[in-house]
Amino acid sequence: MNLQQPNNKAHVSIKDHVIRLMVNGIGHTFYLGHDIEEADTLAYLLREKLGLSGLKVACDDGACGACTVIMNGEAILSCMTLAIEADGQAILTIEGLHKDDPVIAAFAEQSEPGYGTAMQCGYCTPGFVMTVKAFLNENPTPTGQEIKDALSGNICRCGCYAAIAKSVEHAAEKISRQESNQ
Ligand code: FES
Ligand code: FES
Repeated sequence: MNLQQPNNKAHVSIKDHVIRLMVNGIGHTFYLGHDIEEADTLAYLLREKLGLSGLKVACDDGACGACTVIMNGEAILSCMTLAIEADGQAILTIEGLHKDDPVIAAFAEQSEPGYGTAMQCGYCTPGFVMTVKAFLNENPTPTGQEIKDALSGNICRCGCYAAIAKSVEHAAEKISRQESNQ
């Protein structure tokens, strides 16, 4: 999946130099030139201004997916998104997921010893989780190839790809069970 880089240039000219956005359901206001600068990224705003350090900035160049968050339902690269482009948008970071979230549960189970691990150092994991979250919202019953395609924008330097793909399958099964129990 190609992670999205927003193209809402209209937001580059911010009225009153005020940026308002929702992060994990909570509204925040930032003042341009005071709280943040025009060139600051969304990754910087989330990590340094809001303390949401789950997302990682690894390449800072749009190449690894470690900084993935969800904006209005779509997985985006927060290192390639200006903070001002998030004006008026709703952002979800890994901190905003419920502790029983099926994607988190699937990744956690897939890191148990003897189960094949989706996590060694864990540096890539928040980015993968958010990519998978947005993907399964769109496609809750993916094929193996669709899972591979969906994960293609995220890099795991520990090489856990096979187990990460298994986590996605297990997350999809959990979501399907949850839905059939409702
Ligand atoms: S840190 Fe954003 S894509 Fe690598
Ligand atoms: S688990 Fe180490 S980079 Fe993926």
